[in-house]
Amino acid sequence: MPPNTATTRGGVGAESKDHPSGDPRFKLIDRTLKRFQYQQDALIEVLHTAQEAFGFLEEDLLIYVAHQLKLPLSWVFGVATFYHFFSLKPQGEHTCIVCMGTACYVKRAAEIVALLQNEFGVAPGQTTPDGKLSLATARCLGSCGLAPVLVLDGDVVGRETPEATLARVHTMLTTKKPQPVAVE
Ligand code: FES
Repeated sequence: MPPNTATTRGGVGAESKDHPSGDPRFKLIDRTLKRFQYQQDALIEVLHTAQEAFGFLEEDLLIYVAHQLKLPLSWVFGVATFYHFFSLKPQGEHTCIVCMGTACYVKRAAEIVALLQNEFGVAPGQTTPDGKLSLATARCLGSCGLAPVLVLDGDVVGRETPEATLARVHTMLTTKKPQPVAVE
C-alpha cells in the first residue's frame, strides 16, 4: 500500500469509539441524531444522512437508527421502503462513493469523479449498464483529515490521487465482492 494512503474497514481506527463497528461514518449519523435531539420525527433526516454516508440503507443501518430513535424497526423499514429516494440495496455489484465535501473537493475529489465518469461511462447516482459499478457522491464522510476520501465496497480509502483511484476501481471490479463475516 502506498505510504500516503489510508484505509479503514469495520473496527479499525482511533475515531471509532462511538460505534462498535469502528466505521467513522456512524459519527455522521450520530451528529444528525444529536442535532435533532434524538426526536423521532427526525427519522427522514437521519435516514438521508445514513444513505449519503453509506450509499444505501443496509439492514444494519436501519437497526441502528431504529435503536437510536427508539422506534420499531418495522416502522423505520416502512419509511425507508416507502420513499423512492431511499435505496435499500446497492444497485451495482460494486460501489464507489466519492466524498465531495469541502476538504475533499479542494484535494481533487471532483477530478476523481470526472475520471471515473469518463472511464466507466457512469454519472454519480448511476450504475454501469452491465451492473458492475455504482458511483455515488457524498457531502462529508466524517474523515476530512484523510481527504480526499472514497468508500470502495465498504472500505474507507483516504489521500488518494485520481490515477490511484482509477487503478483501485479497476482492481475492485476484477475482485469478487467480500461477503460479510458472521460474528459468533
Ligand atoms: S469533506 Fe470529505 S470527509 Fe469531510
